[in-house]
Amino acid sequence: MALQQTLILFKPDAVQRRLCGRILTRIEERGLKLVGMKMIQITPERSKQHYAEHVEKPFYPLLEEFITSGPVIALVAEGPEAVQVVRDMMGKTNGRESAPGTIRGDFGLSRQVNLIHGSDSPESAKREIGIYFQPEEILSYKTALDDWVCASDELG
Ligand code: RTP
Ligand code: MG
Repeated sequence: MALQQTLILFKPDAVQRRLCGRILTRIEERGLKLVGMKMIQITPERSKQHYAEHVEKPFYPLLEEFITSGPVIALVAEGPEAVQVVRDMMGKTNGRESAPGTIRGDFGLSRQVNLIHGSDSPESAKREIGIYFQPEEILSYKTALDDWVCASDELG
């Protein structure tokens, strides 16, 4: 098990629907630590960089239109196995198929307009964090809760 960082976006629909606070609360309550956060408007260029694996797919033009349509909040969360933990909290891509209790399953009904992005592997996380954050924008700090999130032998 490892301490990981993962890139999360609250997509334009989360901002427009004023759901960012509720989603962020779930992430914090799970025990993940916020180590970077900013509000930005994604440009078409950055969308193509982020979603490079999808640029040639038929759904990409609509995805770019959506993700550039309004402000997003980008954040980096840190914790044990943070990448998979966040993916599990998000639910399936399509909100209609996402289990209740997941973010997409509780707040969404769409395959595209699905509230949140989370890196899908540690390698993707490193690449995506670099797209949205300068190294000095990722903060390293201790909190009094660190020792209560998991035992030291879980971070080997
Ligand atoms: P994300 O990358 O945003 O965290 O979402 P994901 O891993 O669950 O899904 P992915 O397959 O990577 O797709 C990226 C985003 O593209 C939109 N999408 N549209 N119309 C379609 O068939 C379709 N498929 C995917 C969604 O916004 C999805 O989150
Ligand atoms: Mg993805």
